[in-house]
Amino acid sequence: MLAFAGNVFSPNGNIELKFSVDNGRPVYEMLYKEKPVILPSHLGLELAKDKHASRGMDEIDLMEGFDVMDEKLSEFDETWKPVWGETATIRNHYNELAVTLRQRLPDTTEYKGDGTNDGLALISHEREIIIRFRVYDDGIGLRYEFPQQADLNYFLIKEEHTEFAMAGDHTAWWLPGDYDTQEQETQQSKLSEIRSRMKQAVNWSNSSVAVFSETGVQTSLQMKSDDGLYINIHEAACADYSTMHLELVDAQTKALTSKLGGGSNAYTPNPTTVPGGSPAGKSYPLPKPFTFVSHLTPDATGLKGAMQTPCETPWRTVMVSDDARDMLSSNLILNLNEPCKLEDTSWIHPTKYCGVWWEMIVGKSTWNYTNDYPSIKLDQIDWKKVKPNGRHAANNEKVKRYIDFAAKNGLDEVLVEGWNVGWEDWANMWKRDVFDFVTPYPDFDIKMLNDYAHSKGVKLLMHHETSSSTQNYERHIKEAYELMNKYGYDAVKTGYVGDIIPRGDHHYSQSMNNHYLYVVKEAAKHHIMVNAHEATRPTGLCRTYPNLVGNESARGTEYEAFGGSRPDHTCILPFTRLQGGPMDYTPGIFVTRLSEWSDNTSWARITIAGSLALYLTMYSPLQMAADLPEHYEKFDDAFQFIRDVACDWDESIYLEAEPADYITVARKAKGTDNWFIGGKCDENGHTAVIKLDFLDKDKKYDCTIYADARNAHYEKNPQAYTITKKVVKAGQTLKLQEAPGGGFAISLMAK
Ligand code: NOJ
Ligand code: CA
Repeated sequence: MLAFAGNVFSPNGNIELKFSVDNGRPVYEMLYKEKPVILPSHLGLELAKDKHASRGMDEIDLMEGFDVMDEKLSEFDETWKPVWGETATIRNHYNELAVTLRQRLPDTTEYKGDGTNDGLALISHEREIIIRFRVYDDGIGLRYEFPQQADLNYFLIKEEHTEFAMAGDHTAWWLPGDYDTQEQETQQSKLSEIRSRMKQAVNWSNSSVAVFSETGVQTSLQMKSDDGLYINIHEAACADYSTMHLELVDAQTKALTSKLGGGSNAYTPNPTTVPGGSPAGKSYPLPKPFTFVSHLTPDATGLKGAMQTPCETPWRTVMVSDDARDMLSSNLILNLNEPCKLEDTSWIHPTKYCGVWWEMIVGKSTWNYTNDYPSIKLDQIDWKKVKPNGRHAANNEKVKRYIDFAAKNGLDEVLVEGWNVGWEDWANMWKRDVFDFVTPYPDFDIKMLNDYAHSKGVKLLMHHETSSSTQNYERHIKEAYELMNKYGYDAVKTGYVGDIIPRGDHHYSQSMNNHYLYVVKEAAKHHIMVNAHEATRPTGLCRTYPNLVGNESARGTEYEAFGGSRPDHTCILPFTRLQGGPMDYTPGIFVTRLSEWSDNTSWARITIAGSLALYLTMYSPLQMAADLPEHYEKFDDAFQFIRDVACDWDESIYLEAEPADYITVARKAKGTDNWFIGGKCDENGHTAVIKLDFLDKDKKYDCTIYADARNAHYEKNPQAYTITKKVVKAGQTLKLQEAPGGGFAISLMAK
């Protein structure tokens, strides 16, 4: 029985969104050029019966019993300017359907009397929620809104049940769904193969693994259907809410994973599936195979959200196109976020940086200053009397060397990790007071080094590893940011290695998401840009708070020193991790065999030309030149590209793209007539054919091409590149041969 049906098309008519209420349950459906993208799928939320909810143990799920009270159709079209980005302007154009749903609740009898009769009256109850759909030419967003009302005031989410029913056994590029880490290699498989591949897909050696289901995957999830549709599921504007994963219902699924009662990752990875539905609750019919169902990250109590109306969920997004390039150029996630909330953004700037970092990651030097204590208590050590280990990297001499290198090569900032006391026993000790974020080691002269950097036009980039001890960080944050202001730091890289302290919480829970946003807002008050590592995956909040200039939230370059990442890794990330915001991928490794300069036997699976390409294919306003200065000095002609490349753009044109195979993009540097083109490919190599029809017809360009040499190969010959210079103009075509695991980079300077 369909009690109501409405539909809305995208502005160009390609996408159709249908909404209905089927036996009291909200249902939506999505088509692209008349092909099904999302088959009819239910919407709803299961609420916890909990003494802290306004309705207490009488709480009722927001799953069924709805009828439609109102529907509003509207159109919106605006063009906005990001503070930094891939393009100078972004069009936000959609058609909206907002449906107000009413849920009737059981009547109650209440005493209303004045003593003259028995005074009992029958009171009827109902509540309202709104489901809002925004339909764009490149996808849809939908969210639940909860207006303030007596019968929906405080409530606790047990699970969100947003379904995404797929129309077939698509190919998916997926990461194991995990409450604490995203640092995995992407798996490429059919949906039906996810279950059998889950165990080997998990990187069990990561310190915070907390997978929840044999068919649980992360977003942003990129898929491709057999008939050539690219489909991507993610979320936008995840604030005061936990991060969403997706659990696939396949042919073997008996019940959705559900577990109340909390637990840290010590209790996982043994997902609890409860036959017949969730514990102590009503069970709802299982959707058909090939349906993804939202699965939120729990907090330490096992609950998924503590809500106070008025409030809303993040947007659930589905992007679709028959052209893979549209997945990369889409601004759907940014558009679904709120406009910038910072009044003054003049202090926010794109940044190219190097850092005292890679040598510690590789194991050549250390973050810690001494090896003489089995553990330390911050307030019980006189650091001046401590015996240094002789391998501490963040020392005055070395930092000056990096500052000199940055100054000479036009890099804006120098990251220094291991500058502050506490690295002797930092992660995974359940230790709360790990760092104070203000006390330097004795060999790091914070004033002298900042003065030295500033005298050369360079800034130091602050590092705050929190070790996931969030209370400790929040306690020190004001002092820490005041110290940064005092010495002239304007950016901080934060880190959340290890299990969350307070114990039992997870990296992607509502409370942790609130912590990450609190840090961004506090930083903004101090005019500080934030680059958060191991924080939750971005959902476009950088539109609202553009001082959030970067996140890691995926497997970054550091893994090239921990066994390596597959060569196609960087041809997948722009389709997945980068959908929600830029990644501090820290590219630029030139000496890929780490054993050439350290005891580390790992090697980076990339050519030098491929490394250069990443500055374009992995968009970020924050770009690191991660290798050591001496390695860049050895390949100074190739390093010229890193000196030249911009990291803020007026225009970006994705020329070629296929997930996990290749990406080619041309970008016009902000405020100039110069273009840069980058191409990156997987282990199979690729021939890129580039028509220069986007260049200004009236100009000529000095073109420098950094390409893989004919015999280059990411394993056998990674350092073989050619540099060719010529003058080009609009209308010409360039043909570039990319080696296995390689790529190319081109600069086009207007004459
Ligand atoms: C992990 C980060 O990703 C890495 O960049 C950093 O150096 C270490 N944590 C230490 O904070
Ligand atoms: Ca491939």
